Amino acid sequence: MHVIAIANQKGGVGKTTIAMQLGAALSRRHRVLVVDVDRQRSTVWWAENMRDTLPFDFAGDQNPRVLGRLRELQVEYDYILVDTPGSLEDTPVLETVLDAADTVVVPLIPEPLAVEPTMRTISRLIEPRGLRHAVLLNRIDARNPSQLRTWQDLLDTVWGVPRFDAYLRQYKAQADAPILGQLVTTVHDNRRTSGAIYDITRVGLEVAAQAAPALTGRW
Ligand SMILES: Nc1ncnc2c1ncn2[C@@H]1O[C@H](COP(=O)(O)OP(=O)(O)O)[C@@H](O)[C@H]1O
Ligand SMILES: [Mg+2]
Repeated sequence: MHVIAIANQKGGVGKTTIAMQLGAALSRRHRVLVVDVDRQRSTVWWAENMRDTLPFDFAGDQNPRVLGRLRELQVEYDYILVDTPGSLEDTPVLETVLDAADTVVVPLIPEPLAVEPTMRTISRLIEPRGLRHAVLLNRIDARNPSQLRTWQDLLDTVWGVPRFDAYLRQYKAQADAPILGQLVTTVHDNRRTSGAIYDITRVGLEVAAQAAPALTGRW
């Protein structure tokens, strides 16, 4: 069982999107539980819109303390993904989640104002716990090829933080998914959706490769 926290104290970087879509991608081959400890309940609303098509088990509205007891669950999961709040007032909630996590996915969007809160989350909350972590670039502009390279370079050389090779581009299908009650595993693969499906599938493969014991240590 591998507990993955999706965390960044900056709001709007894609934590909820990634918790749900990565949960869907991993559920193709693994047993997955998605847990929401955010008072905003975004995943709860999204999950409700899915009706009975949700491809993973889901626990909304959770007190983060339940995470410490996840290993006692009757049902065994391969991955437990935890969507976390992005506000500073909720720092204690995030800390409780991180105490129970094995690794952390840190979403980041290519906006200068998102950088400082992201680096602060890593240096103050993630690194002191010795947690494996990697930044996942999100909302990359597919029509601007230099944007991805610039941000990957900044992460590698200026800020010196680990990152995923995979990244998520900005797609309307991704933004519409919660209201349409869709996930990458429940939509038809067509011109509107194929980019979003491809991107999150790559992230899922990278997460699974890193989590496999034989391959650990690279994050
Ligand atoms: N790759 C993407 N393409 C398009 N829209 C996205 C993408 N990722 C996130 N969004 C949108 O950006 C907004 C913030 O994302 P969200 O997952 O709610 O962030 P957080 O949980 O970190 O606050 C939402 O409206 C969401 O639909
Ligand atoms: Mg959210």
